[in-house]
Amino acid sequence: MDTTYRIAAIPGDGIGKEVMPAAQRVLDTVGSSFGIRFEWSELEWSCEYYARTGRMMPPNGLDQLREFDQIFLGAVGYPGVPDHVSLWGLLIPIRRAFRQYINLRPVKLLPGIDSPLRDVPAGGIDFVVVRENNEGEYSETGGRMYRETPDEFAIQESVFTRRGVERAMRYAYDLAQVRGKRLASATKSNGIIHTMPFWDEIFRELAAQYPDVATSEFHIDALAALFVLDPARFDVVVASNLFGDILTDLGAAIIGSIGIAPSGNINPEGQYPSMFEPVHGSAPDIAGQGRANPLGQVWAGAMMLAHLGHEEAAATVMDAVSHVLSVTGVRTPDLGGTASTQEVTDELVAALEREVAR
Ligand code: NAI
Ligand code: MG
Repeated sequence: MDTTYRIAAIPGDGIGKEVMPAAQRVLDTVGSSFGIRFEWSELEWSCEYYARTGRMMPPNGLDQLREFDQIFLGAVGYPGVPDHVSLWGLLIPIRRAFRQYINLRPVKLLPGIDSPLRDVPAGGIDFVVVRENNEGEYSETGGRMYRETPDEFAIQESVFTRRGVERAMRYAYDLAQVRGKRLASATKSNGIIHTMPFWDEIFRELAAQYPDVATSEFHIDALAALFVLDPARFDVVVASNLFGDILTDLGAAIIGSIGIAPSGNINPEGQYPSMFEPVHGSAPDIAGQGRANPLGQVWAGAMMLAHLGHEEAAATVMDAVSHVLSVTGVRTPDLGGTASTQEVTDELVAALEREVAR
């Protein structure tokens, strides 16, 4: 009998609504040959929903989501709704309520893709950024006073807890142990004098417990430069919420397109659903044209499979992605091709079906 998973699918806005069905097709296809069945429940929560109801999701939205095995998200955000409204009305509450305190973002150059960096050989970039996902610089603590007067000011407080920092770092150390045994930490303890020295202290405390992992620490500015100058040196990188966010857009750029990069918002204990999504946003500039790259959403789907314990099915999806990129050359305009979302998806499904037929 097939293993069935109940998945909440939130396509969201813009190209989220185009790449979601593409990835669902791919997952259904691979599932059928691995005895996995996805029972999709589509939730229309989005900026469009907000325009209609004044909310990004219903008041009991989190209770609805809690019932699912995992959450699969496209992208939210659209002109007309301020970005902080769409982010704090949907994504951030989900990440926090479900203690998805790890944001896992692989930065890997896939076969057939040229990095925009000169001199990067095939397979020359392969690391993972572990971004703290529940606290840090993304905090509600602070406020604004004296609005619309010359004395107006805004204060935003960062929140770094021992528990929050330690669990993110421990996850990164554990991951480094099963990968290349190298862990780099993103800091800025020269300029940010309270939270970042605290971050560094905890990083060093844990290092003592992982003697087999080689550690390094970089100020975030220097680290950004190294992502460009020497990406091959990295294996696992651990970063705070904001630093991880910025680094991974750069990570997406050096692997060829933000349209490819995936991410997992992980609740490692499995007490709550985790959420898988591409790194990219809703791309209003190309929405509705049918030329969004579906590979970021598809790769996020492969991460969901792996998280569910189906490593082999996940690897099969990534093999199909590599095949389409390196053998067929069918690719969307962001990768220099001319294919549509639909054409890329058709090729992926065909590759998976051939795999099954073998
Ligand atoms: P974006 O990622 O949507 O777009 C940046 C650039 O990359 C655009 O030129 C876009 O056309 C291109 N791009 C992105 N994904 C692509 C794909 N799959 N295929 C081909 N090209 C792709 O970031 P932007 O423009 O800063 O934000 C647009 C909206 O998305 C905003 O409302 C923002 O708040 C939201 N957003 C939502 C995220 C989420 O749901 N997790 C993450 C980032 C942004
Ligand atoms: Mg980002």
